[in-house]
Amino acid sequence: MPRNTLTVTDNRTGKSYEIPITNDTIRAIDLRQIKVSEEEFGMMSYDPAFTNTVSCRSAITLVDGEKGILRYRGYPIEQLAEHYDYPRIAFLLLFGELPSPSQYSEWNQTLRRHMMVHENIKKFIDGFHYDAHPMGMLMSTIAALSTFYPDAKNTQDPERRLLQIQRLIAKVPTIAAYAYRHRSGLPYVYPEEDLSYSGNFLAMVSKRHEQRYRLNPVLERALDILFILHADHEQNCSTNAMRSVGSSQVDPYSSTAAAIAALYGPLHGGANEMVLRMLQQIATKDHVTEYIKKVKAGEVRLMGFGHRVYKNYDPRAKIIKRLSDEVFAVTGTNPLLDIALELERIALQDDYFVSRKLYPNVDFYSGLIYQAMGFTSDMFPVLFAIPRTSGWLAQWEEMHRDPEQKIARPRQIYMGPDRRDVPDAISSGKQSTASPTAEKVQRT
Ligand code: CMC
Repeated sequence: MPRNTLTVTDNRTGKSYEIPITNDTIRAIDLRQIKVSEEEFGMMSYDPAFTNTVSCRSAITLVDGEKGILRYRGYPIEQLAEHYDYPRIAFLLLFGELPSPSQYSEWNQTLRRHMMVHENIKKFIDGFHYDAHPMGMLMSTIAALSTFYPDAKNTQDPERRLLQIQRLIAKVPTIAAYAYRHRSGLPYVYPEEDLSYSGNFLAMVSKRHEQRYRLNPVLERALDILFILHADHEQNCSTNAMRSVGSSQVDPYSSTAAAIAALYGPLHGGANEMVLRMLQQIATKDHVTEYIKKVKAGEVRLMGFGHRVYKNYDPRAKIIKRLSDEVFAVTGTNPLLDIALELERIALQDDYFVSRKLYPNVDFYSGLIYQAMGFTSDMFPVLFAIPRTSGWLAQWEEMHRDPEQKIARPRQIYMGPDRRDVPDAISSGKQSTASPTAEKVQRT
């Protein structure tokens, strides 16, 4: 019977240590016993960018990057996207099961009730410059919500936590739509009682002078599917930010703002905006080969390609590619689609991309759909942040319920100068007598 342990021999001392293995993982703290002398701090593991570090146990989302699998609470993303709507998925992520019909109706009512935002939020958004990036407006306005709900500080009370979760999921589309309207110089539109979650967002963004905005059901459903696909993706950069900032027990508006900040970056949720800029820059199919050359020479990155975890086709990209046909049948095709298809065709045959297992990710085709639906490219990361809010909050709630979690505080290897005296201390002859070598071994 094989033992579920790892034997480590420290060649500096010849001593062996037996370290327990659980779920193919060792606990980093078990390495601490490995040391040459008793005064030493003990062994740590060095993992910049957390490429091989597990930070939590989670029951929410599974990503199998080698096989190209994504599941929420065990359900394949393909089935969820085909059969359900986004509010059901948010419920599933948060509570672990799909809602019963009565739970679903109550959940929708709760979300609709919380969709309105305080009137002062308008004044707040009015303060931004006319061309402010909507993601910057969303991030700061979500942070500002903490000042409207001082009860949110009470993060140890599960009922208070649930109330903030409901408020956040419901208010994010309203604030995102307000940011869009401010950018376009249009009056703000209130959410309506009888529209769906994604329908409400579309109406708040698109309504002009008509009495009632007439939603196109294909576009409403397409947006809903995009919301489902973006809802969670386990321990990515923004979720890690949500958990890390939330671990200080700050209110969830502040940690959601931090997660939005992380998502804003071009290597994460900002990539969809960058894909569109890249396609516009390439301009015609004839320039694709030349662009690929630049990518291979390391001058630029092929945006919307590659993933830390997926080493296979991102399952979300497959669904979005199919979805684009339905959207383009309504909106007319996006001329940039041909360039995207050509980029994908060439890249998937090229050894540079094949050997590095670089495939299209969720951001490669989503921007084309958003653009066809009439969104400007700076709204793309915002469209990512709206549904990801439910994922962030499900992860935040799970962290609060996990007795093993504490304030996040990684270690470092200190590489700076040894202890030294400032010039004034040397000239006044008041140098310290502490030995620099004794301090060198102390790691902070
Ligand atoms: N274009 C060209 N080369 C790439 C790309 C790319 N998009 N992505 C990775 N590589 C190369 C990289 O140069 C490196 O090559 P080498 O081994 O010769 O140095 C190798 O592939 C491994 O790349 P890495 O940067 O070490 O991989 P990573 O896991 O740190 O980065 C990534 C993952 C998503 C940041 C990266 O693939 C990337 O920058 N992609 C473009 C931006 C993008 O589309 N981001 C959206 C990610 S999906 C949605 C989300 O989660 O937000």
